[in-house]
Amino acid sequence: MDFVGSHILSVNQFDRSDIEHIFRVADEMRPYANRARITHVLDGAILSNMFFEPSTRTRVSFGCAFNLLGGEVRETTEVKASSLAKGESLYDTARVLSGYSDVIVMRHPEAGSVAEFAKASRVPVINAGDGPNEHPSQALLDLYTIRKEMNSRGRSIDDLRIALVGDLKYGRAVHSLCKLLGLFDNVHYQLISPPGLEAPENITKELSRRGHHVDEHHELEQGIDHVDILYVTRTQEERFPDQEEADRYRGLFRVNQDIYTKNCEPNTVIMHPLPRDSRAQAQELDDDLMQNPNLAIFRQTDNGVLIRMALFALVLDVAGEVHNHAKPVTWYTAKRFGEGA
Ligand code: CP
Repeated sequence: MDFVGSHILSVNQFDRSDIEHIFRVADEMRPYANRARITHVLDGAILSNMFFEPSTRTRVSFGCAFNLLGGEVRETTEVKASSLAKGESLYDTARVLSGYSDVIVMRHPEAGSVAEFAKASRVPVINAGDGPNEHPSQALLDLYTIRKEMNSRGRSIDDLRIALVGDLKYGRAVHSLCKLLGLFDNVHYQLISPPGLEAPENITKELSRRGHHVDEHHELEQGIDHVDILYVTRTQEERFPDQEEADRYRGLFRVNQDIYTKNCEPNTVIMHPLPRDSRAQAQELDDDLMQNPNLAIFRQTDNGVLIRMALFALVLDVAGEVHNHAKPVTWYTAKRFGEGA
């Protein structure tokens, strides 16, 4: 695809060469993300970071990514802090904001809302999560992490065996990741969910049609043996019709070190899009996994900065210019990026 000036709304937009392109640019961003160098390639550019649902890592890492490229960030969080609360349409909001910014990142609780917003925007719009539908930048950073972890084991993404665990119905990160992995060859999906929270049929059917192996389970331990990646997710309680129904699913699937040792390979990579629900009744990833070197959850969040820098560089057409506007960092920088879990 031609990234310049494009909206990034769905992983359906990408083919394998697009993904390789994004990952090559993301690799180039590492010295800037880990503060070895700074660049001013987006000096004067403005990002509108619009988050109409709670977020920590997506909102902050998109903002940091833009700052790390030298641009400025304007944020709106919560509908009640915007004129959407006064009945303004997404169309009008988009038209107004695109007059003030060079690129817009948006999260919204309704499926399809970011695409609707993008129709009225005169600048590129990046989907940071639209309800239960998609979360393209999360899937890209997850895939980038999977590729890195598999490469370190002498493997590629082709022939991957992945277990996806938890709320596969409402989990937008899972939807986007499943589709993105579907671009590769011979992927084995073990989809493990409680009854009622299975992955959407349109996604599983399409993966099968492409020749991948898709097995669905309702028991955790049935599906997680011999997998390369164990991708655990949170129950998306905010998507349920009522809290009582959400409560019924809390804590059904919990992965801890005992379960991992009993069922997984010694080097199975443990991933989670985060946030994980650490309340005692939930604990989908137990704290006793923190010492497990295959726990990659914070390597994922670190990689999110690289991917989001790459997306900005590509849609704003500065990917080839980043190093020409760079200099070394002079202040103290702690070594923390890409280290540990
Ligand atoms: N993974 C993810 O989307 O996290 P946040 O909701 O904190 O942005």
